[in-house]
Amino acid sequence: MMEQLNNDKITTPKLFILSGLFLVVIGLLFGVIGSFQYIIPGLFKESLSFERVRPLHVSSVIFWIIITAVGGAWTYLLEHTQKKVFSVFLIKTQLILFVFTFLAIIVSYLLGIFGGREYWEFPPLLALPIVLGWILFIINFIKTLKSLKHQPVYVWMWFTGTVFFLFTFLESYLWVFPYFRNNVVNDMTIQWKSYGSMVGSWNMLIYGCSIFLMDKISGNKTYARSNIAFALYFTGLFNLMFNWGHHIYLLPTHNFIKHISYLVSMTELFIIGRIIYKWNSTLTETKKNFYRSSYRFLAAADAWIFLNLLLAILMSIPAINLYTHGTHITVAHTMGTTIGINTMLLLAIAYDTLSNSCYSFEPYKKLMKNGYWIANFSLFVFWIALIIAGILKSKWQMSEEQVSFAEMKEMLKPYFYVFVGAGITLATGLIMVIFPLIKNQVLCIINPQMKEIKKSEL
Ligand code: HEM
Repeated sequence: MMEQLNNDKITTPKLFILSGLFLVVIGLLFGVIGSFQYIIPGLFKESLSFERVRPLHVSSVIFWIIITAVGGAWTYLLEHTQKKVFSVFLIKTQLILFVFTFLAIIVSYLLGIFGGREYWEFPPLLALPIVLGWILFIINFIKTLKSLKHQPVYVWMWFTGTVFFLFTFLESYLWVFPYFRNNVVNDMTIQWKSYGSMVGSWNMLIYGCSIFLMDKISGNKTYARSNIAFALYFTGLFNLMFNWGHHIYLLPTHNFIKHISYLVSMTELFIIGRIIYKWNSTLTETKKNFYRSSYRFLAAADAWIFLNLLLAILMSIPAINLYTHGTHITVAHTMGTTIGINTMLLLAIAYDTLSNSCYSFEPYKKLMKNGYWIANFSLFVFWIALIIAGILKSKWQMSEEQVSFAEMKEMLKPYFYVFVGAGITLATGLIMVIFPLIKNQVLCIINPQMKEIKKSEL
């Protein structure tokens, strides 16, 4: 069996993950407020309008994904090399830069100070400390790793993810230069290309951590050096370079670019889905039990991969894609993948890395299990409600009859009520599984001499 290197110390990599958990809780709260604004238009219009709540929600959850993926890659890199980090100063500076910038971004939104583009609405100057932190990350990561020779697939995934993220993040800011901003088609193409590649880069970090975790649970290194895992790596690499094609259906670009990129995105999802599925079928009950919480989230992510793949196949049909743009089907696709796949995999990683803390998780087992089922069931209802609302809206867009906008809104209302209800229970379920992780870590930080147990039973 692979050695369990976790100990009860709060290391800097664990602090990245803990910061991510705080961010997702903040993001969930803003998500719930935003969903209420669907059914009560104008709610909190003066101080917390939807224009502020949406970026507050979206940026918090995107940073949850990024900072936790970084924490996971750091934790597992150190477990893999069995060495210490090259520079403690650099990793701490990286964490401080990330945390303070994210806080500054949240404050700027709350004060109504914007200046950025969709998904990164904060003032562009705040991107600079993120870039600096990321450069420190790459230097420290490469120096800790030392060599890429004969490395398993997850090391390649982390390395590629870190380098490409910096590149695409910088690319998403090219619009600040008039040369790029002045040509609308080029500007939008670069913008969407960079977003698509950025998602591909963080997926590399997350998939790398997931394969490491799967090998750790099964107690061997089967997947880390298998052909299918390297197939995932190369598909992912191709995807992060070209998947942007499916974001620009409305722009005048060659059709074959759009179709190839869509096909590759789906192949990537299919391969990761198959890896988890095959891995699951080879696990013994003892191994599943030993890593019960992490195992559960990996299994949930697998189910979500196949559901999102189904939706992606439908959305890839050009005639359908044209009409789904700007409807809730797109939101179902982004939230279905970022919650069902990214968040579930990250929770598996968080449970593996943080559950070995100085307090026992025993008293929370029931809470965690119920939270898990509530979150997954609610996500399903939430996702379906968005898809149905999206279908009705696209039918309205296509319809020849002159149905007014107000009538269409009225028609969608029941689905928005379901969306809000399921959103609240989804947030509750997720907080039920996150709460024990945060509470135990915070208690260990505040009171380090209380060491009830050395190793968790989870
Ligand atoms: C970890 C959990 C979550 C993640 C990762 C997540 C992710 C996202 C993302 C990526 C978007 C942008 C969608 C797009 O532009 O296509 C979004 C929008 C949104 N989310 Fe979430 N979300 C989460 C939980 C929730 C919850 C629990 C609620 C509601 C109760 C919620 C309500 C919303 C709303 C109202 C929007 C705005 C949609 C619009 O612009 O019309 N989210 N979310």
